Amino acid sequence: MRIETKYWPAEQPRAGIEEAAAAIAAGGVVAFPTETVYGLGGDATSTEAVGRIFAAKGRPSDNPLIVHVARSEDAAGLAAEVGAVEKALMSAFWPGPLTLVLPVREGAVSPLVTAGLDTVAVRVPAHELARELIERAGCPVAAPSANRSGRPSPTLARHVLEDLDGRIDGVLDGGATGVGLESTVVRVVDGVVHILRPGGITKDQLRRAAKGMADVAEDTARTEGRPETGAQAEDASAPRSPGVKYAHYAPRGDMRIVTGEAGRLPPIVQEQADQAAAAGRRVAVLSCSEHAAGYRAHAVFDWGSRAEPEKAAQALYATLRECDERGIDFIVAEGYPEDGIGEALMNRLRKAAGGREIPVR
Ligand code: TXA
Ligand code: MG
Repeated sequence: MRIETKYWPAEQPRAGIEEAAAAIAAGGVVAFPTETVYGLGGDATSTEAVGRIFAAKGRPSDNPLIVHVARSEDAAGLAAEVGAVEKALMSAFWPGPLTLVLPVREGAVSPLVTAGLDTVAVRVPAHELARELIERAGCPVAAPSANRSGRPSPTLARHVLEDLDGRIDGVLDGGATGVGLESTVVRVVDGVVHILRPGGITKDQLRRAAKGMADVAEDTARTEGRPETGAQAEDASAPRSPGVKYAHYAPRGDMRIVTGEAGRLPPIVQEQADQAAAAGRRVAVLSCSEHAAGYRAHAVFDWGSRAEPEKAAQALYATLRECDERGIDFIVAEGYPEDGIGEALMNRLRKAAGGREIPVR
């Protein structure tokens, strides 16, 4: 069934927020900007509203949702308990792009939100519109990224409409999101912080905040990003995120990442592009301002200087969507160093590429 999707423009956020909040309070589902990506929000205590989120996205019901609250204090109401390490992380990073997986307080949210798990993922977003919306809705807001399952996350209201127009009650336009990649999802087990999904808060930031209290595990790779080897899949010692087993962010075209020292990337990237073009494919190169001008391809994307990987993070999802729109069927991307936001960026690039990576030595 097709429903009318309201559009609340960025210019009049006040009016839009009130209507959007009223829609959520009435059991509707509304897309809104956060500092990471757009979310699709509904009342987390309403099984009907949460059911509509899953239906609109086409999301598998065993993949739980993040619950958004306006203030750290509100998180305590959702969790059975909050440990000292979690408290330290909350005060260091909330509001902001960190999601904490906590033992769920029974009855606090619909069991659909947690997909039947005994934990709930919670975050306080930093985006002003998001916090005002949640505040006015007067309930915890369950919100996955506002894309159809398997599509890149939306960083513009336009992306939300591309995927969900006619399937949701409205979208609150707040312009481009900030980080461009999703929040970092962590879970603390036996005094160790496990990163279930790298994101807007980096491993170094977590280490600094947890210093003297907890270690940050080096096990991100086994939870998301890389195709799992048998050994990783069997190792049950580390907590895992259900989202891990799903294909994500895949562009329609075949994708490769070329990794290694920056100066050695261009010849290999060009060779990949040339081979694909010779085979009759429409080719895109995802690159940086230092190298972009030197490439020949149907489309060359310049994500800004390699010294500023934040720019690449902001541009990634919009670029993948544009490649689809332009009928690109082969994408070759330059890899980035895996520190700071580069870790989350490479995680998403690897997912988009289905793990197909060409290391240059
Ligand atoms: O930045 C973000 O986190 C955005 C914005 C809208 O807040 N939201 C987002 O939600 O990315 P979503 O649904 O696309 O991703 C949520 C991730 C999934 O990988 C899911 O499996 C994991 O969080 N997750 C949710 N609840 C969990 C739980 N109880 N235990 C482990 N992982 C959980
Ligand atoms: Mg998502």
